[in-house]
Amino acid sequence: MTERLAQETVVEFDRVTLRFETKAVLREISFTLQRGETKIVLGAAGSGKSVLLKLTMGLWQPDSGRITVLGEEISHRGEDELFVVRRKIGMVFQEGALFDSLTIGENVGYVFERLPAVSPEEAERRAREALRFVELEQTFDLYPSQLSGGMRRRVAIARAVVGQPELMLYDSPTAGLDPITAARIMTLIVKQRDVGRVSSLLVTHRVQDAIQMARSYYDARQENLLPAGQDGARRDTHTRFLVLREGELVFHGSLEELAAQRDPYLQEFLA
Ligand SMILES: Nc1ncnc2c1ncn2[C@@H]1O[C@H](COP(=O)(O)OP(=O)(O)OP(=O)(O)O)[C@@H](O)[C@H]1O
Ligand SMILES: [Mg+2]
Repeated sequence: MTERLAQETVVEFDRVTLRFETKAVLREISFTLQRGETKIVLGAAGSGKSVLLKLTMGLWQPDSGRITVLGEEISHRGEDELFVVRRKIGMVFQEGALFDSLTIGENVGYVFERLPAVSPEEAERRAREALRFVELEQTFDLYPSQLSGGMRRRVAIARAVVGQPELMLYDSPTAGLDPITAARIMTLIVKQRDVGRVSSLLVTHRVQDAIQMARSYYDARQENLLPAGQDGARRDTHTRFLVLREGELVFHGSLEELAAQRDPYLQEFLA
């Protein structure tokens, strides 16, 4: 991972502002996300993290500014045009949001319902493969109510990756989970970053997850995370940080740069 990768912008926010009623929940936000890069979004509750992901998905339109995703300007687009871009994005919502009346297999394969080019057999094969990725293939015929919270979160990840998206949006994927399940989910996310070169925006409240993402890489031979400082050479883990405060972007940079900040609000996130 020390090789220089060609830069390719996957997401660009250019002075994006979003208001709900009169309140600006995001103000003049500008940043880019490159291919293979992860941006970790930190900020207090209500600072605008989920809103930022939902704008990237085109679920809302900004009041001003431009958002470009995978080469398409998505701000001010209709639903039909957005559908094409959204197919290349996987989102793990903060609320999880599985369909209770569908089996796990049907939940994961759901995206193919709107893609007539994918046969039901192919959809099932891909859904099983995605469930194997999160080590839950055995739950294929079960219903969400029969799974634990941590298992449901992993199913939500399987559902998000099943279409092999180029861009992943994770909203607090490990919130409220035990340390073992959280570590398992973080390993999956780093694997996506390092093996698939998938670009991600990831919201988290867990500082240990953020530090781990920035300081480790996925080793395919050991199928596990290793510290990026090993082997003498320090690897670039292609992970940077965005910090939001009341809708404003107050920091954008590496973990080391964040750790060096004296601002008390910024220091809070690494405490
Ligand atoms: N649908 C909505 N209608 C009106 N206001 C909203 C809506 N969704 C979010 N907001 C407001 O936008 C602001 C940012 O919300 P957001 O959900 O992005 O916070 P967050 O940073 O994700 O917080 P948390 O850490 O609690 O998940 C908040 O003030 C919230 O009240
Ligand atoms: Mg949120």
